[in-house]
Amino acid sequence: MTLHRLTSVTMGVPNVAETRAYYTDFGLRPDADGWFTTQDGGRQLRIVSAAARRLVELHIAADDEDDLGRVAGNLGRLGVPAERTATSLSAVEVATGVRATREVAPRLDQPPIPATAYNGPGRIERQDHRAPGILRTGQVLPRKLGHAVVGTTDLAATTSFFIEGLGFKVSDYIKDVGAFLRCSTDHHNLLALAAPVSFLHHTSWQVDDVDEVGRGAAAMLAGHPERHIWGMGRHHAGSNFFWYLKDPAGNFSEYYSDMDCIVDDQLWTPEVLEGARGLFSWGPPPPPSFLAPEDLAALMTGSHSAA
Ligand SMILES: [Fe+2]
Repeated sequence: MTLHRLTSVTMGVPNVAETRAYYTDFGLRPDADGWFTTQDGGRQLRIVSAAARRLVELHIAADDEDDLGRVAGNLGRLGVPAERTATSLSAVEVATGVRATREVAPRLDQPPIPATAYNGPGRIERQDHRAPGILRTGQVLPRKLGHAVVGTTDLAATTSFFIEGLGFKVSDYIKDVGAFLRCSTDHHNLLALAAPVSFLHHTSWQVDDVDEVGRGAAAMLAGHPERHIWGMGRHHAGSNFFWYLKDPAGNFSEYYSDMDCIVDDQLWTPEVLEGARGLFSWGPPPPPSFLAPEDLAALMTGSHSAA
């Protein structure tokens, strides 16, 4: 695979200071120039000022420069102009307005975290001790950026840009509504969803295990019940445990663990998911505001008046 990781996302928000404070609470570490770092992935989130909340840019890492010439050719066949340097290539996906920058960068070598010991029927993995999930006291600090989800007014154009143009692969589809795309061994790094207006739905951040998903969300909700959106549950697509929260600009942020990894493309068969399976395997029912965020009408009005 020539693409190997989603390096970073840049989000634009009208309320930068408030949103930066939220992601600091979320466990990302503030850095210079609006950046935030994760434990394993370095600079992975940048927050910049924008009139309305939106996904501004994605950075995607490739192995070598030879790929960039081929990608420029692919984008050219789609009628998309690209800017090229010696080590990067950048183009704007027209339906979402998202700039995607593909650049040569080293692979992410995550140090393996020892498996959490869980007792089960006939299997005592943890003797004479309480579970680590109840003993942990430190702040939950995401290991890396997992994925971004964008609403798009032209699903076909957006998926074609990322698949045929940039080289993403399809992991699963939501019938008539969306495509889970990957640029790494993670089940998805980008989900494009058909929507009445293009917008950033959520970003997702990897934590160690299901207890960290729960602990992270519980800490975010202490004193801030308005941050809760949906969780805890387990998705069907990607299999990951999830809990969604909302930042002060209206973007959702997700803690996740235990996502499917596709190491051998030949061994994975994409499914076309229908009904509830497109959303989740188990958990509380998703609130209507998960699929149609409350500010969608305002975003539509804003995009129309800007057009
Ligand atoms: Fe997600």
